Amino acid sequence: MAIPELECLLTSRISAERLRPEHEELIHRVHRDESVMAWLGGLRSLEETHDYMALNLAHWQSYGFGIWTLRETATERFMGRGGLRNAAIDGRPEVELAYGLLPEFWNRGLATEFARHLVQIGSDDLGFSDLVSVTRPENVASQRVLAKAGFQPERQTLFKGELHLLYRWRVDASAEPAR
Ligand SMILES: CC(C)(COP(=O)(O)OP(=O)(O)OC[C@H]1O[C@@H](n2cnc3c(N)ncnc32)[C@H](O)[C@@H]1OP(=O)(O)O)[C@@H](O)C(=O)NCCC(=O)NCCS
Repeated sequence: MAIPELECLLTSRISAERLRPEHEELIHRVHRDESVMAWLGGLRSLEETHDYMALNLAHWQSYGFGIWTLRETATERFMGRGGLRNAAIDGRPEVELAYGLLPEFWNRGLATEFARHLVQIGSDDLGFSDLVSVTRPENVASQRVLAKAGFQPERQTLFKGELHLLYRWRVDASAEPAR
């Protein structure tokens, strides 16, 4: 069920490309950044990045969506990764929105820009009526991104053994996202 339009995405400032095997070095750059990985379970080894790649490349093959690598369109600099993927949360199948940007790109509204685009794709192209995202309670920046993309806090959950907040976006509740 591949949708060709999803291979490359463009927002006003971001060019996103479907995850490919040759992106492994870029993804590892994110996995070696302490400020980013402090929120995402800690630094990852080369082997863990390789496992991440295998899992997320297989996800694309199976479902026709997944993680994209992100570049700043104006400079073509790699800025991070983000996307949508199937996840089991509290034993229930969910579609999770995920993102992580290198620190030099923070606080310019870029994660919000991409998260909003993912919500639109999830809803219009992939037909999902709801999406979730999990974030640590202290990760206020991520919670702001989710609120601005139309997500609402739903409950606490244990995710990968740590306390997280689960946010949910619903198709009928997203008419007026926070500004
Ligand atoms: C979370 C993350 C993606 C945000 O990216 P970003 O491009 O900086 O996000 P935006 O600029 O779109 O929005 C950030 C918002 O958080 C706010 N913010 C940033 N740091 C903050 C802090 N320490 N405390 C409170 N608010 C903060 C910003 O002011 C902005 O909100 P505003 O628009 O109301 O002013 C980025 O910080 C990141 O990659 N972090 C590490 C990985 C991560 O946490 N991923 C998400 C896991 S759930």
